[in-house]
Parts: sequence; C-alpha cells; structure tokens
Amino acid sequence: MKGILLAGGSGSRLYPLTRCTSKQLLPVYDKPLIYYPLSVLMIADIRDILVICAPESLDAVHALLGDGSHLGLNITYARQDEPRGIAEAYVIGADHVRGEDSALVLGDNVFHGSGFYDLLASARESFPGCALFGYQVSDPGRYAIGELDAGGSLTSIEEKPLNPRSDNAITGLYFYDQDVVDIAAQIRPSKRGELEITDINREYVSQGRARLVRLGRGFMWLDAGTHSSLLEASKYVEILANRQGVRVACVEEVALRMGFISPEDCYELGARMAGSEYGTYVMEIAEDLTRSPQRA
Ligand code: TTP
Repeated sequence: MKGILLAGGSGSRLYPLTRCTSKQLLPVYDKPLIYYPLSVLMIADIRDILVICAPESLDAVHALLGDGSHLGLNITYARQDEPRGIAEAYVIGADHVRGEDSALVLGDNVFHGSGFYDLLASARESFPGCALFGYQVSDPGRYAIGELDAGGSLTSIEEKPLNPRSDNAITGLYFYDQDVVDIAAQIRPSKRGELEITDINREYVSQGRARLVRLGRGFMWLDAGTHSSLLEASKYVEILANRQGVRVACVEEVALRMGFISPEDCYELGARMAGSEYGTYVMEIAEDLTRSPQRA
C-alpha cells in the first residue's frame, strides 16, 4: 500500500502564524505537526510515501524529513502550486499510487488511541473500494458526515449538514483501492473552486463500495487548523507526556516498534537530538527495547 501525505494548503485560519511558514511545520507541543499524520501512515505499515507541499514550504519540509531513510521510509515529494483541493492529491500523486491500494492523510490531522495499529491493519485487509474513518463529534454541522447502514457501509455523505442524520464526522484519513486515480481524474471543481475529496468518496458510496471504520470513544482526533485546535492538540500531547510518559507520534519510536529501524539506529537518532527531552526519550526507548525486545 502506498501513502500520500497532503501538506499544502494556505492555512489562512491560522494567520499570522502561517504567513511565512507552513501549517504542517508548526509545533504541536514537542514536534512539528507533520509528524502526527506521518506516524499514522507508518502505523498503517506504509513506507512508500509521497509528501505533497506548497512550493514555498517544500525545501523546509524536505530539510525536516529528507528521503525518510533514517526512519526506514522512502519519502518523495511533489508540489501543489495552489490549494486546489484535497482530491488533487490523487491527480498530483497519480503515478505514485497507480495500480495499488493507497492511503491519504491530511497534514494537519492528529489521531491517537490505543488499538490503532490493529484497527488500521484490519481496515487494510478488508476494505471494499474505500475505507473512511469516522469520529463521533458533538458539532456535526461543521464536518462531512457519513450515514451508515447496519453492515457499516456508507449510504450517504453530507457536507456540513444543517440537519445532520448522524454524528459520524469523516476524518482526514482515507484508504482507497486503485480506482481512485480514475475517479479523481473525472471530478470537476466545486462551487468554491476546489477538487473535493467528498466527491471522490461519494462516487464510492454510489457504487456501494464505501465503508466507515469508526474510531471509538477511546480515540482522540482533531484537525489542528485553528488557533484553538492547535493549542488543544498541544495540551493533549503534553498531558500524555507528563502524566504517562507516552509520546504521541514520536516517529523514531514508531519506526522502531514497526521494525523499520534497529534499536541502534533509533538510539543514534535520539543522540543527534541530545539536549532535548525528546532526544532523551528516543534514546531511552531504544535502550528499553534492546533490553526487552518483546515489548516492541
Ligand atoms: P484545510 O484546513 O481545508 O485548508 P488549509 O490548510 O488551506 O487551511 P485554511 O482553511 O485555514 O485556509 O486543509 C486540510 C489539510 O489539507 C491541510 O493539512 C492542508 C491540506 N490541503 C492541501 O494540501 N491542499 C489543498 O488544496 C487543501 C484544500 C488542503
């Protein structure tokens, strides 16, 4: 399965923070926002990843993630010249994913919850057409909302409904089969001038090939696209770090636990950041797993 991490956009709701830097490079507590969606693809066991960036942030994102080899990944890059919509990921990334299943994750989405690995692994095995990931929200009028039949198949998707028929928000993680490239090539810009991911998803719904995998109560999901949600994400990550010693989206740890890199490689990555709590954590995790490999 191939991965696409969409990290362009204008980030206008975060102005002036995003006047001269990409939203995806802003900090969420102890690490750049882009680490969070990157770790989601890694937990889904995806190593071949296309990162799509706005032209002005490509060099900075490349300086941060490189070719991904230090994490056991193969990261390549493409530009999105203008924010022409999320579905453009499958126009720009057509050659990257052609003929294969793929996952798309949005660069500002933060997911966390126990059992995520198993949930993604089973979604990977069994999706007919597309698998979307739903999260119960208290304010469905702000999201794309999916309605389900008893078997978990999606029967409709409504954008920001006035009278929502469910509270299942569709999050920024999408699994598609190889047909997505042809579907994306056929959709046209919406009234707001964007290629809408919902149009791709609705095509799968109309074919009866869209499933919603629900992220249950124990999960946290948010898109860090506003000042308030960016801060909320930081606070969430800080609380877990301070109360439990758990680091959300520590990509070095994920690479180690997924078996993409060795404990020695992981320790070396931590040592390069010695002096930061994050670096110390990476070194400690590497040492722990060397002592008790069964904990990986
Ligand atoms: P949005 O939050 O919808 O858009 P944005 O990031 O441009 O922010 P704002 O609405 O404040 O102007 O984007 C969701 C994610 O998708 C985010 O990580 C950016 C990415 N994205 C692109 O890379 N290209 C696009 O054309 C769009 C619309 C979004």
